[in-house]
Formats: sequence, structure tokens, C-alpha cells
Amino acid sequence: MTSAVDVITTKRDGHALDEDAINWVLDAYNRGVVADEQMSALLMAVFFNGLSARELRAWTATMVDSGERLDLGGLSRPTVDKHSTGGVGDKISLILAPLVAACGAAVPQLSGRGLGHTGGTLDKLETIPGWRAVLSNDEVYAQLESVGAVICAAGAGLAPIDRKLYALRDVTGTVESIPLIASSIMSKKIAEGTSALLLDVKVGRGAFIKDHDRALELASTMVALGADHGLATVAQLTNMDAPLGQAIGNAIEVAESIEVLRGGGPTDVRALTLALARVMLELTGLDVDPETRLDDGSAYEVYRAMIAAQGGDPDAAIATTAKASVVTAPHDGIVQRVDALDVGVAAWRLGAGRARKEDPVSAGAGVRCLVVAGDEVVAGQPLFELYADDDARLELGRATIASAVTIADEAPAPTALLFERIG
Ligand code: URA
Repeated sequence: MTSAVDVITTKRDGHALDEDAINWVLDAYNRGVVADEQMSALLMAVFFNGLSARELRAWTATMVDSGERLDLGGLSRPTVDKHSTGGVGDKISLILAPLVAACGAAVPQLSGRGLGHTGGTLDKLETIPGWRAVLSNDEVYAQLESVGAVICAAGAGLAPIDRKLYALRDVTGTVESIPLIASSIMSKKIAEGTSALLLDVKVGRGAFIKDHDRALELASTMVALGADHGLATVAQLTNMDAPLGQAIGNAIEVAESIEVLRGGGPTDVRALTLALARVMLELTGLDVDPETRLDDGSAYEVYRAMIAAQGGDPDAAIATTAKASVVTAPHDGIVQRVDALDVGVAAWRLGAGRARKEDPVSAGAGVRCLVVAGDEVVAGQPLFELYADDDARLELGRATIASAVTIADEAPAPTALLFERIG
């Protein structure tokens, strides 16, 4: 009989855990036999000593086996999903899922809510009157067959141990561990039953991971885990130093996504969506140019069907707030950078995000960025519009956004939207 203390001390002393020990400790924790304080100690030992590829494979497999596994094998279309590690203004899923479905794939996009300064896809879609995030497995399957795209809450039955582990990591300083992040993300994606997966690994000021080498390590770790579990996985590192698009919030991001789906919208959002769509289509083997499906309106039609299938009104007015305010340029010059972290934190304080999982979010709150790096501005020119439900939040947002733009005399160095691809 394995004991929790043996498992903890083995990892603490830098030795590898065998598969049986990993299966046992995770399963026993799930059943309440191993206590929170013991699992906390083990997570800290993993944080410092890591997991080998073999240990990580067993750790992830046990997480997958802790719950149900969807079987999407009977669908008439190839399945492919995208996961983003989280960014500011990252509304790409809202456009990408219907776009890739319009090209012939089925996209099961099981998503989460936002926490901290990065937004959550479900919070954005929940601003649409009537839209329902929670679907049964049968509803997910039926919608994938009929519409081709589903964005909904990841059911409690998928890798349920991840919920317990994530909550414990959150309060024990063990979130930022590459093997723990990789197993958390990949266990849910493997359980979801998709055949292919694109990981958008964000790196930069507004990302969860700010260091390029660490982002690369996370990306390679997840790609290897996908391969181990028969899930064709590609990771694309993308730049999150600046917010994506102009709109950062919930309803305003839905509005901006619709603009892109109707052929307009900010160029960075359109370019990133098309780049990611091409990789997803390559993974499915479908030889279709996504740009044609964006420009001929077919992606927008799939979006409308996807919203309506989940009870939402695709023609509903976009939620607004009672208060708004404009932040202007203090002097003439050229915008050097718009800082994604400052903008994300401002949107969060304006009411678009939540501090605790159970907090509500404001539908209309957020930031509209009116300039990008490289723009010439004159003193008094509007840089941001801020939206909040009350004056106190508006003031909090104004104070935070003050440092988000740097204006100087010279042109800034150009930046890339996409970095390395792994896999
Ligand atoms: N997202 C997840 O699902 N898990 C993590 O550990 C980090 C980000």
C-alpha cells in the first residue's frame, strides 16, 4: 500500500514517481483519502522538482481517467479545437469556431470564465440575451453535427480532479508550474474527445506567461502530451504585449467579433483568426481557404446559427453602461506601446472581470483602445474610451489606464503577431 508521505518525500527528494504511485495518489486525493495538506505538499514538491515526461504522461492520464471522455468519433465532420492560454481582448474563439466550422470541420470549444485581468469566452457570450453556456453532452454532439461549432462550459464530468487540484494550486502558490499547467489544460482537451487541437500560447505583458522561453517550454510540453494521447496537437506562440483589437470587455468584444465576421474589424484580430484557422484546417486535412468563408458571409451565418442553437438572440442590442469617459493624450508624439496588462487590469476594475470565481461581471463595462503603437497623436486626442456601471469604477479604471500608453518622438520598433510554431 502506497502512503501519501512516501509519495511526497520521493518527489521532495528529487526522485521520480512510478506510474502506480501517481495513479494512487491522484485517485486517493479525488476520493478524499489523501488530505488537502498532503496534496499541497506534493504540488509544492512538483513545483520545485518538476515531472519527467514519463511522470507527466501518467499524471495526465490519471486526470483524464478521473471523469468521463466524450466520444465524437461518430460525427460526419473532422473535429478540431483551439485553446488559448488567455489574453487581453482575446475574442478570437468567437470568430474562429464558426469560421472553421464554415470550412467543414466540427469545433467543440469547451471554454471557461475569466479570472483576473484576462477575459473569459463564456462571460462574453453570456451578454447575449437568452444564450446558454451549459449544455448536456448530447446537446454538444447534436449541435456539432447540425451547426458545426459549439462554445459552451466544460462539463463538470471532464477531468473532475482538475477542479480540485486547480482550486488547491490557486491557494498554495503552485499555479505557475509548467507540468501542472500542461496536465490541467491537456487533460480537459483529451477528455473532450477532439481529434486535433491548436494551442494558442500567449506570451508577453498581458499573458499568463511573460517569458518567451517558458512559453516555449509550456508549448512543447503540451504538444508532447497531445502526441502521447493520440491527439494531433500544434502550438502557436503569439504576441500578447498589446491588447488584441480595440475592444476589451464582454459585450464590446462580442460586437467587435461580429464586425470581423462581417468582413471588417481590426486588422490584428482578422489576421490572427485567419492564421489560426489555417493551422486548424491543416490539422483536419480540409483544403479550404478560410478567408473566402469569412468574406462571403458563411462564417457569420454559422455564428448566428451557433448563438441561436444555444437560445441566444444574434440580433439583440449590445449591452451598454450608464457611465463613460474618455482618456486623452497628454502631449504630441508617436505611440510607443499600448500595454496589454494595464488595459486588462483597467477593464477588470471597470467591472468587466472578476476577483473571485463567484463574482458577477458587468456586461457593458470595458475599454475601447483608439490608438495602436506607431500612431501619431496630438495633445488632447482621445486614446481610450472607458465604460462602467458607476462613477467609482470609472475612476478606478481611469487611474489604472493612465500608465497604459507611452508617447515619444521616435517611431517604435515593429513587433510580430506570431512567434514560433511547435508541432
Ligand atoms: N488553464 C488551465 O486550465 N489550467 C491551468 O493550470 C492554467 C490555465
